[in-house]
Amino acid sequence: MTAKLPDDFYDKIKPRLHERIGRELHSARQVLDLGCGDCALVRYLADTFGRKITGVDVSGESFPDYKRIAKNSENIRCIRQDAVNLKSFYGAMDAVVIMWALHEMQHPQKVLQQAYRALRPGGEILIVEFPRDSMAQRLWNENYYNRGQIASLLRKADFKDIETKLIERRQILWARATTHAATAVHGKNTSFRTAR
Ligand SMILES: C[S@@+](CC[C@H](N)C(=O)[O-])C[C@H]1O[C@@H](n2cnc3c(N)ncnc32)[C@H](O)[C@@H]1O
Repeated sequence: MTAKLPDDFYDKIKPRLHERIGRELHSARQVLDLGCGDCALVRYLADTFGRKITGVDVSGESFPDYKRIAKNSENIRCIRQDAVNLKSFYGAMDAVVIMWALHEMQHPQKVLQQAYRALRPGGEILIVEFPRDSMAQRLWNENYYNRGQIASLLRKADFKDIETKLIERRQILWARATTHAATAVHGKNTSFRTAR
C-alpha cells in the first residue's frame, strides 16, 4: 500500500539507504558504484569509511567537481563509461554497488556479468532498486524488476548466495550476492567462475 507515502519519500530515505549500504559493505576496501549519477554515494562511502570508491556512469553530466568538495578526494574516482565494459577493473573490486540504476541500463545481464568479472573471488554485489509495482512505478513508470527477476539476472551472471528482500515499506528492492570463492588449483589461486 503506497497511498500514504509522500512524493518525496525516496529523497527522504536516500541518506538512510547510503548508511545501510555503508554498513553492508563495511569490510570492502575497493568499491565500484555503477550508474553513480552525481557521485553522492561515492562521496558518502569515501568520506565516512575512507574507502577507495570508483563511480562509473555512462553520462557523467552530473559529476561534481569532486576534488574540490570531498574530504578524501584521493579515494574517489568518477569515470564516464558504460558499465557494459569494465575490463580495466577485472578482479580488482571487493564490492560492486548499483543503486537505482540497473533498470536504466540497456543490457543489465551484460552489466552483471561484467560486475562479476570486476569482483575478486568472494566479492559482493549489492543492488538497490525500485521494485516493480512500487511507488516509483506511479511516479516515473519505468521498467522495474521484481525480486525473482533480479535473482534470475544474478544467477545467470554466475553469482551465488543470492538474497533479495523488500525494505523501506516495500518501496526498495535490496539484493545481494557473492562471487565464487577462490580455491587452490595446482598451487595457484583461481576461482570457480564459468567461462562467458
Ligand atoms: C536514476 S540514476 C541513479 C543515480 C545514483 N546511483 C543514485 O542513486 O542517485 C541512474 C544512472 O544510471 C546511469 N546509467 C544508465 N545506464 C548506464 C550504463 N549502461 N552504464 C553506466 N551508467 C548508466 C545514468 O546515466 C544515471 O546517472
